[in-house]
Amino acid sequence: MGVLTITSRKGGCGKTMLATVLAASLADGGADVALLDADPNGSAHRWTTSTYTGRTIPSYAEADAERLAELLPSLTERHTILIVDTAGFGNQAAMVAATGAGLVLVPVTPGEGDLVEAQRTVAYVEGLARSTRRAIPARVIANRIRRTTTLSRHVLAEIDKLDLPRLQAVLSEAVAYGEIGFSGALPKEGGGRGGDRCAGDGDARGGVVASG
Ligand SMILES: Nc1ncnc2c1ncn2[C@@H]1O[C@H](COP(=O)(O)OP(=O)(O)OP(=O)(O)O)[C@@H](O)[C@H]1O
Ligand SMILES: [Mg+2]
Repeated sequence: MGVLTITSRKGGCGKTMLATVLAASLADGGADVALLDADPNGSAHRWTTSTYTGRTIPSYAEADAERLAELLPSLTERHTILIVDTAGFGNQAAMVAATGAGLVLVPVTPGEGDLVEAQRTVAYVEGLARSTRRAIPARVIANRIRRTTTLSRHVLAEIDKLDLPRLQAVLSEAVAYGEIGFSGALPKEGGGRGGDRCAGDGDARGGVVASG
């Protein structure tokens, strides 16, 4: 019913991490959620099918734009929430996934180049929305944030200065997010110490869903 596409022109900004954590978190809460991996590297699909240890998440992989355009509507009918991970812009599959989305999330990590790419991604989605004459809301979500650092504070201020629509929830820099790739289990909220803690600056998992 609802398609949530996670995309950015920037590589390594946390698209797959966010897609998998969100899917697992929603499944954990009993939601009918599925994951569609539109990145040819297939890492999100591999995680949900081979590594993840929680409640089953139906998982699909399709990186070919034409086949994705066929598949997307049927999966949208089949599942209440469909989370789509993408390889970023410059590829047609990401464009198809953004065009079919009810909400697009754009992770942005601290850095000047990252902000520029996030801005371009949001502008691109706005262009797609205008071309297709349908609303495709796009929201930036700050990732790898450490509130104590000037860089993190700066990036949040810049997002607002650029007038980019952003979720108030942010994703903390946390070793636990990296570890899920190996452990297959969701990071514990507020668990760990210091850099291991996740979602410490607001509940990123609940926040994304609530703000979406
Ligand atoms: N908040 C975070 N805290 C710690 N590590 C993170 C966080 N977000 C992402 N990472 C790590 O950064 C790396 C890149 O993240 P990820 O693979 O999700 O990015 P991506 O946008 O999907 O990259 P690509 O464009 O290559 O698909 C991964 O090793 C991931 O575990
Ligand atoms: Mg990825």
